[in-house]
Amino acid sequence: MIYFDNAATSWPKPPCVGEAMMRFMQEAGVNPGRGSYHLAIEAGRTVYRAREAVARLVNASNPLRVVFTANVTEALNLALRGLLRPGQHVVTSGIEHNAVMRPLRALEREGVSITVVPCSPTGLLDPADVRAALRPETALVALNHASNVIGTITPIAEVGAIAHEHGIPFLVDTAQTAGVVPLDMAAMQIDLLAFTGHKALLGPMGTGGLVLAEGFDEARLEPLIRGGTGSNSEWEEQPSFLPDKYESGTPNAVGLAGLEASVHWVLARGVETIRAHEQVLTALLLDGLAEIPGVIVYGPRDPAQQVATVSWNIAGMDPGEVGLRLEEEYGILCRVGLHCSPAAHRTIGTFPTGTVRFGLGAMNTQEEVLEAIKAVYALAKEARC
Ligand code: ALA
Repeated sequence: MIYFDNAATSWPKPPCVGEAMMRFMQEAGVNPGRGSYHLAIEAGRTVYRAREAVARLVNASNPLRVVFTANVTEALNLALRGLLRPGQHVVTSGIEHNAVMRPLRALEREGVSITVVPCSPTGLLDPADVRAALRPETALVALNHASNVIGTITPIAEVGAIAHEHGIPFLVDTAQTAGVVPLDMAAMQIDLLAFTGHKALLGPMGTGGLVLAEGFDEARLEPLIRGGTGSNSEWEEQPSFLPDKYESGTPNAVGLAGLEASVHWVLARGVETIRAHEQVLTALLLDGLAEIPGVIVYGPRDPAQQVATVSWNIAGMDPGEVGLRLEEEYGILCRVGLHCSPAAHRTIGTFPTGTVRFGLGAMNTQEEVLEAIKAVYALAKEARC
């Protein structure tokens, strides 16, 4: 079996992730941040260590500004819904995932106006187009760091500089980059960084969050949900301090124990090293697919400009059929269709049929890529006959 759906979730995870989760459950699996007994304190330390690990990964100086959520979708909803008000304007791009577009379309119905800056047919965003889209009432620039369909990397630092020049907060969806593309919130001028734990960070599902930059004033950001935090229990108002303002209810502490382990694994291996490995795999895949008559590859087709996510089609074959045959005849698992990003498929011209997507990851090998190229070759040959 070859697993090529790492853009959906990475698998397998490093063994230390499951081990840390099991250890937490067996040794300190109690509610963190509530009781004052020693196990509750130990559970709280586990959650705090996960904050420290994420803060280190994204170069955030204060771990208390790492807010945990159930996933990156919730983190994006928190940022968009927490910040935007009727009458305001938001700038986003033509390669966004529905985790951004659906909350924005709902906000549009409530009076927020949206500019979707088009990307090139390979998914590339021109920062000058973002600058041109800004208005006096623009309250947020919200961008994907890399497309989950074609892998194209957005020039985040350039856009961050433009947003800050205009005093506009900058939200970045790092679902496809955290763990595989170096992240530095300060250097990239990111105010709100939404991340997921279960993709390139190699952690468990049910983990993710929003990191608030030191200079971002949290008074501007309303919580998505309110409730018990284990702090200031005498008040019936939500605490205003971080991270409690945005973290109500018992957290996924077992998941965060796994996330701490996975982020440490990524940091020990090195984000640059993982990226270099994935670039080698991407180059091999792109070169192999380019040689196959009848195969159309979308996106930049350049490992320097994309993450290890490659969308392609075989002319004359439905991507659904290709995906099914890849699994049944070659044991290759991948995702086909629209990948929850109709915007990206419109940009590359594959809406509504979609593409076959190979999402390569840290655990894949060159041998697997070569096997997959042979399988695509055989299917494409058949389609030509
Ligand atoms: N957003 C995930 C994907 O691209 C689930 O497959």
